Amino acid sequence: MPRVRGIAKKLSRNIPTTSISLVLLVLLLVNVSILWSFNSYSVLFAEWLPSVNGAGEQRIGRHVWRRAKEPTPLVEVDDRHPIRELMRAADAGFERYNANRSRTFKEAVSKYRKSYGRHPPPGYKEWYKFARKRKVHNIDDFQQIHDDLRPFWAIPPSQIRHYAAHASDDYGHLVATISLRDGQIFQELWGWRSETFVKLLKRFARWLPDMDIPMNRMDQPRVIVPWEEMQKHLEVERKSRSLVEEGVTDSFSRNIRGLYVPSPRYPQPAWLNRFNPFLYPIEHNRDQQGSPAVYEWFNYAGGQFMDLAAKACPPDSYARNAQSSKHAKAAEGSYKHSLGGFVTNFNASTDLCTVGPQISHLHGMLYASTSMQVTHKLIPIFSECKTNINSDILFPANMYWKKDKRYDYNDLHDIPWDDKDDIMVWRGVTSGGNTFADDPQRWRNMHRHRLVLLTNSTELSINHNTTTILTPKDDGTYIPHPFAPSPFAHNHTNTGFTEKLACVGSCDFYNASLTMLPQTNFAETFKSKYLIDVDGHSFSGRWRAFLQSRSLGLKATIFREWHDSRLFAWRHFVPVDNRYDDLYSLLTYFIGAKGDVNVPAHDYEARKLAQQGRQWAGKVLRREDLEIYTFRLLLEYGRVVDDERERIGVVGDGGVEMEEFDRRYPAVD
Ligand SMILES: *[C@@H]1O[C@H](CO)[C@@H](O)[C@H](O)[C@H]1NC(C)=O
Ligand SMILES: *[C@@H]1O[C@H](CO)[C@@H](O)[C@H](O)[C@H]1NC(C)=O
Ligand SMILES: *[C@@H]1O[C@H](CO)[C@@H](O)[C@H](O)[C@H]1NC(C)=O
Ligand SMILES: *[C@@H]1O[C@H](CO)[C@@H](O)[C@H](O)[C@H]1NC(C)=O
Ligand SMILES: *[C@@H]1O[C@H](CO)[C@@H](O)[C@H](O)[C@H]1NC(C)=O
Ligand SMILES: *[C@@H]1O[C@H](CO)[C@@H](O)[C@H](O)[C@H]1NC(C)=O
Repeated sequence: MPRVRGIAKKLSRNIPTTSISLVLLVLLLVNVSILWSFNSYSVLFAEWLPSVNGAGEQRIGRHVWRRAKEPTPLVEVDDRHPIRELMRAADAGFERYNANRSRTFKEAVSKYRKSYGRHPPPGYKEWYKFARKRKVHNIDDFQQIHDDLRPFWAIPPSQIRHYAAHASDDYGHLVATISLRDGQIFQELWGWRSETFVKLLKRFARWLPDMDIPMNRMDQPRVIVPWEEMQKHLEVERKSRSLVEEGVTDSFSRNIRGLYVPSPRYPQPAWLNRFNPFLYPIEHNRDQQGSPAVYEWFNYAGGQFMDLAAKACPPDSYARNAQSSKHAKAAEGSYKHSLGGFVTNFNASTDLCTVGPQISHLHGMLYASTSMQVTHKLIPIFSECKTNINSDILFPANMYWKKDKRYDYNDLHDIPWDDKDDIMVWRGVTSGGNTFADDPQRWRNMHRHRLVLLTNSTELSINHNTTTILTPKDDGTYIPHPFAPSPFAHNHTNTGFTEKLACVGSCDFYNASLTMLPQTNFAETFKSKYLIDVDGHSFSGRWRAFLQSRSLGLKATIFREWHDSRLFAWRHFVPVDNRYDDLYSLLTYFIGAKGDVNVPAHDYEARKLAQQGRQWAGKVLRREDLEIYTFRLLLEYGRVVDDERERIGVVGDGGVEMEEFDRRYPAVD
């Protein structure tokens, strides 16, 4: 199919318009004749639910569900499923988000000052133009950057630079330093991650001040600052806010001291400089601060992550009162629906202070991380993902920007929703955490493994597993009902591992319980309507492609990423509890179930969510959006490491220049 479309595309480039019109005419005639000879209605929905009668009605119990004209849903006037309410609430939140976007420079800077109590950083005008020209959707939505950088206002700029400059002195610290000098970018040979980042930086490096960017080379996040200390930092930041205009200039300092000097321990051979544009044949400013930077890295691989994480949580949180049943109950209520266990607050569902103790033994990184090198000191480290308790500085993952066919969406591999199967698919390697040959049951706690076990029909059947789903009553409400998922899983899930990995000792203990399946590509994946995405060692690089596709993304994660504030659960994707206790309620809601239980399908709702997610990804997860985010991030970072940070920024409202610009490049919808 993709091949055929590829050819069609190629052909259409060469065929003159008249023949295209001819083809279109023929297509139209064919369509009309189909409409004529069949009831188009039954053609469209023949595959739907067998009990739908000619009038488009479906009887479940005494209750009749009516389907309005395509493409509206099978309308149950009183369908009071919790998901309907969640989708409605998400739409309302999304509308508020959209209604409040700044449309002009004047509005944007005014909102900036109101939100952050400061003037925008130097270079903001250039960034604004860059973003508008690339059709940014929401010029205001960069709160994450401020959340990440706020605590650094409590550290002297020279100290932050010192940390950044030396972060990669020791190769074993697993940090790559990328340096900007006079708009040029330099890095040592750190590998694909930093090379990708360098290519991205080239798009806007000329507007950035000199700086060192210490980038995490590990999968896992690195910085965990104790809560009490963090509160002090944030207090300092709050007090440092100022909207004074006098003496504020729109430019970064020149001749910044204390930047990166090539490490004497890993000198680059001089001959390489001539061939590798990334290497530095440059004059570094000598670091004026003699004393070595102290990071206090320590290794916590395989440790219980919540033991560290709890320190970064408030004293009265569940994480710091892990035995408290009161806290357990409150945690549950804060993000789960009492009926069906659907995630009502995706943000809270990934908050380790709120849910940590409940999932500490159910997620690979929390339970048995393969690697973990962290510090309790606030130091600048740029990471692709983190948990809510980490103080790493988030940037858009390199994999999202790199054109890697394993992770990059290509429309040629996708098919229309109605051609997709009612199947939830997942493939991956056995990553997430270490498993041990001498503890052969331990792997059953890992998040990926649990997903595969929970959706393996044979396994469910052997153990006679049951779960609970929601089934409708006559009055349109739903009630919990016991459910043996094995037959449903047989028809509607397709999950499994493709490779054994991360075993300490031999991986043979997997043989009895898991079958390795062939690797699949996106073309295979996109044949299914439901794509579940779960974490690996860290975040999942496929998520962007899943959102861009015509399938519906389901997501369980403990990680935060740069894009979180722009993605709305229940509008752009379906959130899943990290414990997966809502999974069969979700799947039976969308796919429907027959037999022992009768649940009407909600294919319309699924398709709607999939379409909304895809459309939205096309607006806010474009490559341009990754660039816009990173540019803004580095302007803000550039300011916080500038000795003059209290006296630099953009005052005023841009005047005629920006008014003129806004007329030429108006905000997009
Ligand atoms: C826009 O934001 C303001 C304050 O942040 C709020 O009061 C207002 O209701 C919002 N507007 C819409 C349409 O949601
Ligand atoms: C299925 O039941 C077995 C035996 O009670 C249990 O050990 C296993 O955890 C259950 N599996 C799932 C996915 O609930
Ligand atoms: C599974 O699919 C078969 C064949 O289409 C069908 O007969 C059976 O009712 C389905 N079972 C469930 C639980 O969906
Ligand atoms: C487990 O499977 C692998 C290949 O999948 C095989 O090489 C190995 O011998 C098997 N181990 C045992 C103990 O059966
Ligand atoms: C499903 O479970 C059965 C029984 O434990 C096992 O033999 C099989 O390999 C599992 N399938 C996959 C894809 O892991
Ligand atoms: C998540 O919740 C935290 C704490 O309430 C808040 O600071 C943050 O902005 C929220 N994030 C998103 C993406 O909504």
